[in-house]
Amino acid sequence: MFSKSSLVIASTVLLSSLASALSIGGRSTTYLEATTLVPKNGTSALECWRFASPLSTSAGAGTAGASTLVIDNLANATYTVIPPRFEGGVHNAPHAQLVAFLSGTIHITIPTDPSAEAWVQGGINGLILALDTTGSGHNTSYPGNVETRALQIPFDEGFVPDHVVLYEGPCQIHSQVVTI
Ligand SMILES: *[C@@H]1O[C@H](CO)[C@@H](O)[C@H](O)[C@H]1NC(C)=O
Ligand SMILES: *[C@@H]1O[C@H](CO)[C@@H](O)[C@H](O)[C@H]1NC(C)=O
Ligand SMILES: *[C@@H]1O[C@H](CO)[C@@H](O)[C@H](O)[C@H]1NC(C)=O
Repeated sequence: MFSKSSLVIASTVLLSSLASALSIGGRSTTYLEATTLVPKNGTSALECWRFASPLSTSAGAGTAGASTLVIDNLANATYTVIPPRFEGGVHNAPHAQLVAFLSGTIHITIPTDPSAEAWVQGGINGLILALDTTGSGHNTSYPGNVETRALQIPFDEGFVPDHVVLYEGPCQIHSQVVTI
């Protein structure tokens, strides 16, 4: 038999877990996180960035009710098709840009730091930021047997999106859309 007080506690716990499951009262917030190549001390480094603004509920035609994040100050877009087993070599980001890898397996290393590497799988978690326009650069290879397709979208000259640096190294997450 439950006492009356334990029933009250049980229903309070149930209500609060229901509330958090349904995100009632703004308890949880969803952010976009992305592995980011930054210029650092004359070379490149990997960091995990979180866009400062959370995703919000879209009111846009065709996506009303979905979660969206507006990323602005973008200049243009280049659609790139990279053959299987391709070596990009050591280079700088040609512009500070978003790179949305749509397919393929991408291996990024930093020649000056043997411990730094990122593996990116094209697809739903395929968005990175490449901002290392100066310094000794990074090395990108595409070792897979399928072509890599990517959209490279530079920011307007000099623009850096508002962000929080979560930690050094690539993002260690299963989904780059993160609810906290
Ligand atoms: C910056 O790089 C130089 C040589 O490349 C190194 O001697 C120095 O320790 C580095 N500084 C930091 C803060 O990593
Ligand atoms: C770039 O990466 C490729 C593939 O891992 C490797 O074979 C090559 O030696 C690297 N180049 C440099 C300069 O680190
Ligand atoms: C795309 O935007 C970048 C950054 O503003 C600029 O440097 C580049 O020239 C633009 N490319 C074209 C083809 O307009």
